[in-house]
Amino acid sequence: MTEACERPEATAGGAADPGDPAADRLEVRAAVFRGDDGDRLRVETLALAGPSHGEVRVRVRAAGVCGSDRHVLDGEWNVPLPAIMGHEAAGVVEAVGAGVRGLGIGDHVVIAWHQACQRCGECAGGKPWACTRARSNDSLLPDGTTRWRDAGGSEAFPYLAVGAMSEAIVVPEFAAIRIDPAVPFDVASLIGCSAGTGFGAVANNAEVIAGESAVVVGSGGVGLSIIAALRLAGATPIIAVDVSEARLDEARLAGATHALLGGPDLAERVAEITDGGADAAFEAIGRVQTMAQLPELIRPGGRAVFVGLPPEGQKVEIDGLLLAYEGKTIIGSNYGGLVPARDFPRIAAAYRAGMLPLDRLISARVRLDEVNEAFEAMRRGERTRSVIVFD
Ligand SMILES: NC(=O)c1ccc[n+]([C@@H]2O[C@H](COP(=O)([O-])OP(=O)(O)OC[C@H]3O[C@@H](n4cnc5c(N)ncnc54)[C@H](O)[C@@H]3O)[C@@H](O)[C@H]2O)c1
Ligand SMILES: [Zn+2]
Ligand SMILES: [Zn+2]
Repeated sequence: MTEACERPEATAGGAADPGDPAADRLEVRAAVFRGDDGDRLRVETLALAGPSHGEVRVRVRAAGVCGSDRHVLDGEWNVPLPAIMGHEAAGVVEAVGAGVRGLGIGDHVVIAWHQACQRCGECAGGKPWACTRARSNDSLLPDGTTRWRDAGGSEAFPYLAVGAMSEAIVVPEFAAIRIDPAVPFDVASLIGCSAGTGFGAVANNAEVIAGESAVVVGSGGVGLSIIAALRLAGATPIIAVDVSEARLDEARLAGATHALLGGPDLAERVAEITDGGADAAFEAIGRVQTMAQLPELIRPGGRAVFVGLPPEGQKVEIDGLLLAYEGKTIIGSNYGGLVPARDFPRIAAAYRAGMLPLDRLISARVRLDEVNEAFEAMRRGERTRSVIVFD
């Protein structure tokens, strides 16, 4: 496995002067959120420093539009501004900093948005998503800095340390996971968030096995990824829930055996289909009301997985007595419990084998200039996933 883990440094050159980021500064067009024009982004030209030690510059070829970006634009979460939005990206390595040994120019990569420290107990124990030293939630690279400057020379912050909606990005080598170049870039980008999160929520968090029943509340990009992963795991029945008939049609295509419009009697309808409640339930919207409903959808001993992320500070009300009495488990799912270097290639392999129809999750391919329309379509519930494609 030496080749897969490590490459001789000689083949990993290519930056104008590896180790001298200033010499390799690049002008890139990117979708920037400043919070001074409502929920709208502007496409600006920014200066991106070259990769420092242990970093790579990636030419972005596709960037997905995720519900998490929308939370930021709609003022539900606070992040450092100005923010280069997007965190679901795939592209090609085009420059490497000094000391990079695992990636070379031309490698196809998917970017991980949770950039763990790689050294703490959680990281060493295979739980990078639980690393408390990660700086990516503050939109900073592991060294606590950003590689970006705007036209006025001020710092700009890549959302989740990715800033995917940009022609090029700089990330740590460990956050750029090499994948099979036969996977198209638009599909590959999804692996970096929605498809990765969905796969991980099923395989790593809920540990669903063949023949178990499941219900997924919210059938957007993340929900459909959960449904596709449930199908891969052999779950049945798979019940999709949404408020949009169009989303439910797509849920059937992704592998749902039943599709229900949400409502107050949801628990009864799920109990009827599953003979008393599902083994596993997933919330993939980010609404505290539907999160509170989740334990009612599972049978005694079942698992309720919180994947959707509500606005900051909102509380979920749950019947504690019933939860304990019926031995139900609530699981918080951060990035699907993924180990990106292990799980991204697995997801790509399942797609290549025709077992995970990720291409069906993409409802529109748009240009960077169309980014605001893509978010509007998401707010209207019109599209599952828009993917920004770059030439
Ligand atoms: N835990 C994680 O690591 C993680 C990773 C990625 C995304 N997320 C979160 O997952 C959530 C979903 O993201 P997405 O990109 O799929 O968003 P999305 O907007 O594409 O999907 C949300 C879906 O929920 C549906 N919906 C809205 N209200 C509903 C209701 N009352 N009942 C049933 N369905 C309803 C919408 O029609 C839509 O199909 C967001 O909160 C996002 O931040 C979490
Ligand atoms: Zn760590
Ligand atoms: Zn996301």
